[in-house]
Amino acid sequence: MSVSYPVSRYAVIGQPVAHSRSPRIHALFAEATGECLIYERLPAPLDAFAETVREFRREGGLGLSVTVPFKLECLALAPEASERAKVAGAANTLAWHGDHWFADNTDGAGLLHDFARNLGVDVRGRDVLILGAGGAARGILRPLIAQEPRRLVIANRTPNKAIALAVLFAQHTGRSTTVLASPIVDLQGQQYDIVINSTSASLGRAAAEEVEAPWPATLFAPGALAYDLVYAAAPTAFLRWAARHGAARCADGLGMLVEQAALQFELWRGVLPATGPVLAQLRAEIKA
Ligand code: ATR
Repeated sequence: MSVSYPVSRYAVIGQPVAHSRSPRIHALFAEATGECLIYERLPAPLDAFAETVREFRREGGLGLSVTVPFKLECLALAPEASERAKVAGAANTLAWHGDHWFADNTDGAGLLHDFARNLGVDVRGRDVLILGAGGAARGILRPLIAQEPRRLVIANRTPNKAIALAVLFAQHTGRSTTVLASPIVDLQGQQYDIVINSTSASLGRAAAEEVEAPWPATLFAPGALAYDLVYAAAPTAFLRWAARHGAARCADGLGMLVEQAALQFELWRGVLPATGPVLAQLRAEIKA
């Protein structure tokens, strides 16, 4: 006699998703926790995000990791959303709550878990610089501010976008934190304990050569951490530039990717998986 169980289905939805590490991460979480689930890649046409989600749900799907370029649409689609997703203005997670989708954003919390658990970095009382003012910056601002850095400065190639974000997020600060926007030219002579690259500049060669780096080379205070929200097999262009200009420590966003995925897994399955072994395994696989 054969017994069949309903399969719990999850997926990463985006365009493109062919190279997403999320299926591997969630498979490792499932293995470690003994949770029985299927996690797939779900490429969606650019103009058919909502339709693809609906179809996935019709087939019994219970949760989605949502990636580029659908994070804004994801928040708009869900009738219910977490406070942190609303503040970020974007969502990276959908969970089926009985009769509707619930949207969440685990990116910022994932970054802070990476700081605290994997890197031993405490944001409280530190001077933090965020390079870039796009969607990625917006997603991490609220959780960063909640940790009460001394100063949080947003610097962007297009200054008005940095100003808009600083104004928006200043209302979320306590007395101990100052949130400011700064034109890149004004960063000259300033030093920071934590410098986070949220620009897409790291993906190209812009920061690879000293002469082309858009930021002053004096940004790093003694002992400073340079953090790139993206990751790659080799150090990113931003991290190579940072290491040459005095960053004491450099880290890419692989830890954040694993940590934000663990929070998704917890939302879907009610179990928070251990992240350390998964991060180590993934790092080894990416380098191989
Ligand atoms: P994401 O959602 O990944 O944050 P985005 O919203 O398009 O993507 O934002 C990209 C960010 O990278 C922006 O802050 C952008 O600066 P502008 O607002 O001036 O466009 C920044 N960026 C992209 N290329 C850059 C470069 N070569 N130098 C500096 N900043 C760059």
